[in-house]
Amino acid sequence: MNGREVLVGVTGGIAAYKTAALVSRLVQAGAGVSVVMTHAATQLVGPKTFEALTGRPVGLEVFGPRPHPHIELAQEADVLCVAPATANFLAKAACGLADDLLSTVYLSFSGPMVFAPAMNARMWEKPAVQRNCQQLRDDGVVLLDPEDGYLSCGARGPGRMVSPERIFDVLAELLEKD
Ligand SMILES: Cc1cc2nc3c(=O)[nH]c(=O)nc-3n(C[C@H](O)[C@H](O)[C@H](O)COP(=O)(O)O)c2cc1C
Repeated sequence: MNGREVLVGVTGGIAAYKTAALVSRLVQAGAGVSVVMTHAATQLVGPKTFEALTGRPVGLEVFGPRPHPHIELAQEADVLCVAPATANFLAKAACGLADDLLSTVYLSFSGPMVFAPAMNARMWEKPAVQRNCQQLRDDGVVLLDPEDGYLSCGARGPGRMVSPERIFDVLAELLEKD
């Protein structure tokens, strides 16, 4: 991880709080980490948390202080990880929509990509979500299928984001090969 650049996308799932542990682990392993959040994600975790952990500003807007943030962030990164990945983000990525910074960065990025979906079990089982996930696998994204277990809505079932440790291990393995 030392000296490698990891771009972490955070979307609006309750598991966003666990992504802080992933980011901290990456920084402790010597990676440079930049974070891009969707607006929904900022309702769940404050950008300041990620700014404090990474020492870098969090990307939020396409039309922000950097002239071409979607292209620059993608060029700087060795790997893109989106955790948690909402049903909405998966759908946008699967059909190539680019209506916010993260979805636009995704289209601009040509390196290895790891998505960790997380959602309510009924959402995860919906045919549309499964179709989008298959499309993304076919497009070369490493999808870490959510686990079965307790969900924040109080239900049990598939939809729980894989652990930050597991995501870290997958990223470390990808960067080793790259
Ligand atoms: C408290 C709360 C938790 C949510 N958790 C999830 C989730 O785990 N997965 C998901 O797909 N959507 C979840 N949503 C819905 C998304 O936030 C919503 O679809 C939003 O439009 C996603 O936007 P984004 O993909 O741009 O982040 C949640 C909404 C709320 C209010």
